[in-house]
Amino acid sequence: MKMQNILLLGGGGRECTLAWKLEQSALCGTLYIAPGNAGTTEYGTNIPVNYMDFEAVKKACLDYQIDIVLPGPEDPLVAGIYDFIKNDPQLKHIIVAGPSKEGAQLEGSKAFSKKFMERHNIPTATYREFTRDNYEDGLAWIAQSTPPIVLKADGLAAGKGVVIAQDVAEAQEAFRAMIMDEQFGDASKKVVIEQFLDGIEMSVFVLTDGEHYVLFPEAKDYKRIGEGDKGLNTGGMGAISPVPFADAAFMQKVTDRIIKPTVSGLKQENIVYQGFIFFGLIKVDGEPFVIEYNCRMGDPETEVVIPRLENDLVELILKMHANRLHEVSVVHSKKAAGAVMMVSEGYPGNYPKGRLMKGFEKVGTSMLFHAGTTTKDGNVVTNGGRVLAVTSYGDTIKHALEKSYTNADHIEYEGRYFRRDIGWEFE
Ligand code: AMP
Ligand code: GLY
Repeated sequence: MKMQNILLLGGGGRECTLAWKLEQSALCGTLYIAPGNAGTTEYGTNIPVNYMDFEAVKKACLDYQIDIVLPGPEDPLVAGIYDFIKNDPQLKHIIVAGPSKEGAQLEGSKAFSKKFMERHNIPTATYREFTRDNYEDGLAWIAQSTPPIVLKADGLAAGKGVVIAQDVAEAQEAFRAMIMDEQFGDASKKVVIEQFLDGIEMSVFVLTDGEHYVLFPEAKDYKRIGEGDKGLNTGGMGAISPVPFADAAFMQKVTDRIIKPTVSGLKQENIVYQGFIFFGLIKVDGEPFVIEYNCRMGDPETEVVIPRLENDLVELILKMHANRLHEVSVVHSKKAAGAVMMVSEGYPGNYPKGRLMKGFEKVGTSMLFHAGTTTKDGNVVTNGGRVLAVTSYGDTIKHALEKSYTNADHIEYEGRYFRRDIGWEFE
């Protein structure tokens, strides 16, 4: 089979992990990463292309004879990179591992995803949606709601668009800021207000060809900056896979009530979708509910999910393109994986960049997936809030994390921080 030249969009820990995996494939030709980071250079060639500049992406596709484009983050998908490529006569032969602009609305619009779930009877929190036009109704709706009250900006808000208000006044103030002050610009012109679900969260991932799908290993991420799940929300401070409470009976419910109706719902509605679906789930009294959909892989979940996926990822993408994912048996590693995210001091607020990183040569038994790093004068320096994911395999989650912690301790830079309690609740 022809070797595939691949253009991977993004430059975080997720993309470093995907680059690591793609490069292992016998079908991988030349791998380019736009823009990549200091870690991705080990697996491919970084190119200084802004992936939101689709004309620049086009130029790279032509210059490098790209066969597959894999968008890591959601923003190019929500902005329609799939449609851009498929509508361009010079590019339309390229495989895009990601949904159409319409399909990406599963993540790009909370109201779209809630209506989709309603149409297909997929379990999720009950909700109402409001805009400036029915603002007063929104205030009244909040006034008669029982806290906590969950408010969500409809559009993409860089992970900051969800407020869980502890009382009516706080909810009304957050609602006002979103609608009247346009706190998140166009993204909060519409607001979804939904029922608070009390349970334990986890993430499930599939790759779909629009008709069939393959299930990837599940994961759980740790979102808060502080130990014991305290403090501000972050992009993710660590992840584990498998998830001990996602037993076979629970996963069967997830499959029957959530995954299958989602994939068949997309097909029924003629929504063009070939790519990853990330189901953000919550287990409430043993039952699964959807908190959110994402149209891409998760970060830092990818840093444990992809190492546990034994299949060739390029082959899966080609099968996806050919509508033949039903022919594939997915193999999940029996080993557990645990990732610890090393971050910069100050994160998720302001943080310094350019801090020299040392100790890489001391790391033996873990995989290092760079997130916010770059090279300067031949050295690796910090270049983001989330700096480096340290992932290890183990017989148990605990063993995997012990290795990750030993190796995280070897990597030094000024202002280094990481949580020491990832996976703490599981033996
Ligand atoms: P989202 O951006 O939709 O994933 O929401 C961010 C976080 O808010 C989720 O990971 C949950 O921790 C929390 N959250 C969102 N919706 C709900 C809900 N209906 N009930 C409880 N927590 C929620
Ligand atoms: N870890 C959550 C996300 O990628 O959105």
